[in-house]
Amino acid sequence: MKKALFPGTFDPPTLGHLDLISRAQPICDKLYVGIATNTHKSHKSIFSPEEKKEMLQKITHSFPFVEVVSFSGLAVDFAKENQIDFILRGLRAFSDFEYEFRMALANRTISSIETVFLMADERLAHISSSLIQELGRYQTRLHAFIPEAIEPQVFQKLARLN
Ligand code: COA
Repeated sequence: MKKALFPGTFDPPTLGHLDLISRAQPICDKLYVGIATNTHKSHKSIFSPEEKKEMLQKITHSFPFVEVVSFSGLAVDFAKENQIDFILRGLRAFSDFEYEFRMALANRTISSIETVFLMADERLAHISSSLIQELGRYQTRLHAFIPEAIEPQVFQKLARLN
């Protein structure tokens, strides 16, 4: 049984994340979608870990191979504790490459775990959580960026921030 970990900040989850999760189905039997709660980015998160978990569970409920979890240490430690075979990450554009390359090498150096990359869907490659945060603050509808099931919740939370 092949197990994978898709770690991220998910602030909020996007159509890009969901696309990656759905395309992971042929390459693993079980996918942990792991909300990192102790990174420099997650400390500045708009959505709480509980909100992120609830949203991710809502948008992945039709994927039985997915389990949404939170973790607070290193991704590789979570991977080791749960006998995970590889880390999964998406690559959107060339600009993602340097950051992802460094992270994959660091993870492999400290734990020998490999990272598998899937190319983001080109129609979604412009999407990022911070773009959604920016648009939502100005009360732009977010259905082109966010799964329908969580769009009202994300819209309401971001609209209140202004
Ligand atoms: N399509 C569209 N957009 C995508 C996408 C896809 N397939 N995949 C990611 N994105 C976007 C996200 O929305 C996010 O946008 P933002 O930068 O505006 O927030 C960005 O790409 C990357 O975010 P995400 O995938 O959530 O990753 P991250 O860089 O925030 O997360 C962790 C980094 C959590 C994976 C990493 O810090 C980690 O593993 N932390 C745990 C501690 C650790 O192990 N540290 C050592 C690392 S070497």
